[in-house]
Amino acid sequence: MAIQYIPEPFRIKMVETIKMLTREEREQRIKEAKYNLFNLKGEDCYIDLLTDSGTNAMSAQQWSGVMCGDEAYAGASSYYHLVDTAKEIFDYDFFQPVHQGRAAEKVLLPTFLHKGQFAISNMFFDTTRAHVELAGARAIDCVVKEAKDPSKRCKFKGNMDLEKLEKLILEHGPQNIGLVVMTITNNSAGGQPVSLENMRQVSEICKKYDILLNIDAARYAENAYFVKRDEDACKNMSILEIIRKMFSYADMFTMSAKKDTIVNMGGLIGVKDAEKNAELIMKIKANCISYEGFITYGGLAGRDLETLAIGLKEGLDENYLHYRIGQMEYLASLLDDAGISYQSPVGGHGVFVDAAAMFPQIPYYEFPGQVLAIELYKEAGIRTCDIGSYMLGNDPDTGEQLHADFEFTRLAIPRRVYTQAHLDVIARALIAIKERAKDMKHGYRITWEPPILRHFQASLEPVE
Ligand SMILES: Cc1ncc(COP(=O)(O)O)c(C=O)c1O
Repeated sequence: MAIQYIPEPFRIKMVETIKMLTREEREQRIKEAKYNLFNLKGEDCYIDLLTDSGTNAMSAQQWSGVMCGDEAYAGASSYYHLVDTAKEIFDYDFFQPVHQGRAAEKVLLPTFLHKGQFAISNMFFDTTRAHVELAGARAIDCVVKEAKDPSKRCKFKGNMDLEKLEKLILEHGPQNIGLVVMTITNNSAGGQPVSLENMRQVSEICKKYDILLNIDAARYAENAYFVKRDEDACKNMSILEIIRKMFSYADMFTMSAKKDTIVNMGGLIGVKDAEKNAELIMKIKANCISYEGFITYGGLAGRDLETLAIGLKEGLDENYLHYRIGQMEYLASLLDDAGISYQSPVGGHGVFVDAAAMFPQIPYYEFPGQVLAIELYKEAGIRTCDIGSYMLGNDPDTGEQLHADFEFTRLAIPRRVYTQAHLDVIARALIAIKERAKDMKHGYRITWEPPILRHFQASLEPVE
């Protein structure tokens, strides 16, 4: 039985018209897009679940912040508003705004990562992995084994495998581990949360071997909601208290602010201890000026800094987080009723449908996650993306196609954008595809790909 939908804790003040093309038109559009959903026009998508990143609806307060943004090149009041708000939330000494998450990675990671080193994470997001590799280092994933079984329902499937982490550190030598990254929530494992206790233990291991610990903080507020709900020791803590504690265990963070801060553009770097990390902060500022812009705007307009400062607070509201996670749970319960497998229990920002379970006959090198994404577009104009072998790409050393741990199709839900009826349309489309899934014999092959982050640009064709 579907669970009850949590009503929106807001009302709608402005709307955007969306339209559904005919099935023939959709088939033509996806063919013209070379079967890459990133090549589609947004206006040709009825429900756009490509990402929850930067696709959020801002509040009336944020829109008024747009008008109040201070556009001074240096020392804008909106910069100070942002820094003061971030200090209040994270209790860190230094903050550097940048234009998005990967800019934070580009500015920060080369300041200490280099060739011959390794970085270990509970799971790297694709751009973070790319920036580790662009800095010359190698990225290793170290998530708990439960995460690799989508049907296994257990709490905190985003956690780091602590035993494996220590083993990896000793195997490669602590001096060769440039960084440990905790991605909260763990996007690539299905938006799965990380417990506060796991974070504490990872921090102890990092201290023991003198290794820097970074939080990839894109969905830190959704993570805190899960901690409060599911971690017994944290039930009586506020969301803010959980966040402060979580961040106190790390040395720094990189954040794509396009997610939990409910804006359309923005990123942030945070460093906990300014005195100890004076040299690091100097390098961050230098890289920011070269790549992003002066340190008090970091590639953002004053109005973006202002909406980001407001969104940082709005994203922590517990009623909002209850509704937000409730949307995922509602959609997941419709899939439970239909026997459709997904990374369960459902995570924070989307439903990650197990495409390998839906198309067991399609091998990883014909990309089941991409097959389901294309079928969803053809079926109902729903745009999603592959989080599987197609996204993972090739081994940087051998050039061989890598075999991902999962073949997911990610239904990422933008914040404050779609209603219960939209979620019903999505579930009905998945059910229709499941009914004909066994008749699909083949997937897709890549006909062209760029050397890095290929899934954004690659061209594909059906395997006949
Ligand atoms: C966990 C995680 N880290 C980093 C990024 C990169 O952020 P951006 O897209 O803002 O560059 C993302 C984006 O989806 C993400 O999910």
